[in-house]
Amino acid sequence: MTDSLTVRDNRTGQEYDVPITDGTIKAADLGAIKEGDDQPGLAVYDPGFVNTASCRSAVTFIDGEEGILEYRGYPIEQLAEKSNFLEVAYLLIHGSLPTKAEYESWVHEITYHTFVHENVKSFMEGFRYDAHPMGMLMASVGALSTFYPDARHIDDDEIRRLQIVRMIAKMPTLGAWAFRHAQGKPYIYPDNELGYTANFLSMLFKMSEQRFEADERLVRALDVLFILHADHEQNCSTNAVRGVGSSQVDPYSAVAAGVAALYGPLHGGANEAVLRMLRRIETVENVPGFLEGVKNREERLMGFGHRVYKNYDPRARIIEQHMDEVFEATEYNPLVEIARELAKRALDDEYFTSRKLYPNVDYYSGIIYEALQIPTEMFTVIFAIPRTSGWVAQWMELNDDPEQKIARPRQIYTGERDRDFIPIEEREGPEKIVGPPARRPKRQRRGA
Ligand SMILES: CC(C)(COP(=O)(O)OP(=O)(O)OC[C@H]1O[C@@H](n2cnc3c(N)ncnc32)[C@H](O)[C@@H]1OP(=O)(O)O)[C@@H](O)C(=O)NCCC(=O)NCCS
Repeated sequence: MTDSLTVRDNRTGQEYDVPITDGTIKAADLGAIKEGDDQPGLAVYDPGFVNTASCRSAVTFIDGEEGILEYRGYPIEQLAEKSNFLEVAYLLIHGSLPTKAEYESWVHEITYHTFVHENVKSFMEGFRYDAHPMGMLMASVGALSTFYPDARHIDDDEIRRLQIVRMIAKMPTLGAWAFRHAQGKPYIYPDNELGYTANFLSMLFKMSEQRFEADERLVRALDVLFILHADHEQNCSTNAVRGVGSSQVDPYSAVAAGVAALYGPLHGGANEAVLRMLRRIETVENVPGFLEGVKNREERLMGFGHRVYKNYDPRARIIEQHMDEVFEATEYNPLVEIARELAKRALDDEYFTSRKLYPNVDYYSGIIYEALQIPTEMFTVIFAIPRTSGWVAQWMELNDDPEQKIARPRQIYTGERDRDFIPIEEREGPEKIVGPPARRPKRQRRGA
């Protein structure tokens, strides 16, 4: 048996052998299949890249059927239990776990790059009082490229390394300041005596006290959430970072594109929808009735199901394990009981099991953020901070990959051809087109 695909083009009767490598065929090989020498070659139509590999990557492995997630080969369960976010960020970026000396120097570098130029503070202050923190984060991370113009030398290892350190160090500062802005509170400078996650909480919540000391259990829970969100292979925002990065722009601009993608409701917004759903259910007694509604297709069970995971999302299991600890340290949230009862019943119900619908990462994360007193408009900011480590790891891989080219998909052209230009005085048409164009029906799209 050879690793190839034999394709017969019924338009011409010709057969082609297309090599199969790593379970894929090269789309370019299909380009050789033509109806005639002067005709374009066969292309692949795949909106949303549902079955197209865009790169080779050694960063993150997912087996959705088995519910496996690994960063650089290490299972997410072990990293969540034994590591911390900065060590995981090092792993994603460098490909291996740091030695003790490497780890200490990495933490030191990140810690001492957390401050941003005072001009960044001034322009952030210029946003409207009610600016969405994610819009502020997107604009301010992109603006960092103007503070570090050297960042455009993307092939210089030392310059590149410095931008990566800066980006991971400064994202919490930018995210926390965007939050303080929306709250009308003064921006809090980083406290370099604190760890990465504790410092972030301090920049979010510190008021007049000398030092903000968050409960260790909450610091650990947020650190675990950061680990779980650090990377997830070729999702929408990572694809945006790679797509924009393929133009060889500086990494701040590429990461701004990732933040923009994450801002969209189909990518980063499901945990907020889970909270709304749990509030609507109101009491544990209402759970069976709600599930009947889902089965009658009157609504969706938010936080269940995933485009890739057809098994328990391993991240959901890990978050669930931290819930009790979080609620020991915070005010009890009755939504937890509703969430647990709902999950228990759904996992016991043939409707959900036969469709392979299991809790995903968003099922429990919103409840924990709420317990940490983080408002919903900050949820995607909290996602973007750790995901920056994955984005830059993927961005580096892109730049080092000799097979990569500028991202430039093909299209199937559906418009008119060969029209002759008509001077405006000679154009005829119904009066009504002078007004705004009629609204088109809304597209139905699904996220993942
Ligand atoms: C994530 C999601 C968009 C994946 O969708 P998908 O891979 O395109 O799966 P489909 O929409 O094709 O669903 C397959 C089947 O399961 C059902 N289904 C999927 N998710 C469901 C949910 N959350 N609640 C109830 N039924 C669901 C669909 O109705 C469909 O049933 P059918 O075959 O009888 O028509 C989808 O599961 C969903 O909307 N989940 C809720 C939102 C959410 O939590 N998003 C966060 C993702 S991290």
